[in-house]
Amino acid sequence: MIFYFSGCGNSKHVAETIATGLNDTLIFIPEAAREGHYEYTLAEGERLGFVFPIYSWAPPKLVLDFVEKLQLKAKPDYLYFACTCGDNCGHTEKVFRKAVEAKGWLLSACFSVQMPETYIGMPGFKLDTEEKAKQKINEADAILTRNIPRLLNKECFSEIVKGSLSWLKTNLVNPGFNQYATDDTKYLSTDKCISCGKCVSVCPLQNITLEGGRPKWHGNCTMCMACYHHCPVNAIQYGKGTVGKGQYYFGKNLR
Ligand SMILES: Cc1cc2nc3c(=O)[nH]c(=O)nc-3n(C[C@H](O)[C@H](O)[C@H](O)COP(=O)(O)O)c2cc1C
Ligand code: SF4
Ligand code: SF4
Repeated sequence: MIFYFSGCGNSKHVAETIATGLNDTLIFIPEAAREGHYEYTLAEGERLGFVFPIYSWAPPKLVLDFVEKLQLKAKPDYLYFACTCGDNCGHTEKVFRKAVEAKGWLLSACFSVQMPETYIGMPGFKLDTEEKAKQKINEADAILTRNIPRLLNKECFSEIVKGSLSWLKTNLVNPGFNQYATDDTKYLSTDKCISCGKCVSVCPLQNITLEGGRPKWHGNCTMCMACYHHCPVNAIQYGKGTVGKGQYYFGKNLR
């Protein structure tokens, strides 16, 4: 059983690749949470996996909230996570380990894969070049090819790219990000909007509706940026932070 979250498709690709390799099933965390589905039964010896993107050097809050509420009939005998990041993950392993240990479970394996950058909401943050994005995806696929057999064999391993100042980023920057940088009131649509509804359908949290043909954000945002990146006419902006920065989602113009 693999629980996953993905905004722009990078982690979905990783989750699907692992699920194919392990012949496992996928559960999309926001959907399960929306349905209040927190109780699951693992088959004897079944692996329990989590796949998610890194948000401000930690797992997204909605993933940690889900883990906290998750109820299993029996303790998993092999629990792993795979995370995707643009660069590095800080102390994500520690945070996730603590979250599962609070449930009485043990983390057996974890690894990170660099994937194309998706966060461009603030000045100084930009997308990867197309060449760099393609290179990251190819390297990520090689990491998956190497690590899926290790998951199949239930190996214990840890391969997380932590980066520099990891304690500081996870423990000081991340709480600030969760409190202040997931504010969706800065999202707006310009007159380029063609009322297609794509932003509504891609939002994993169902946080957008069309009002008078234009998107309206409702205050339940995880800042995945899927709405911004998927708009077919680039009509969505996040204040001035995103102006002129281009769009990316997994599968767009790259393969
Ligand atoms: C809100 C937000 C915060 C992010 N923070 C980080 C970070 O701290 N470190 C990093 O390397 N990448 C960071 N990224 C990049 C994503 O982790 C990366 O692009 C990921 O593969 C996106 O996955 P998805 O397509 O499944 O949503 C961030 C992206 C977003 C949207
Ligand atoms: S995706 Fe873009 S064009 Fe379509 S409704 Fe949303 S803002 Fe408008
Ligand atoms: S409103 Fe946009 S950024 Fe926020 S969760 Fe939905 S798709 Fe992601």
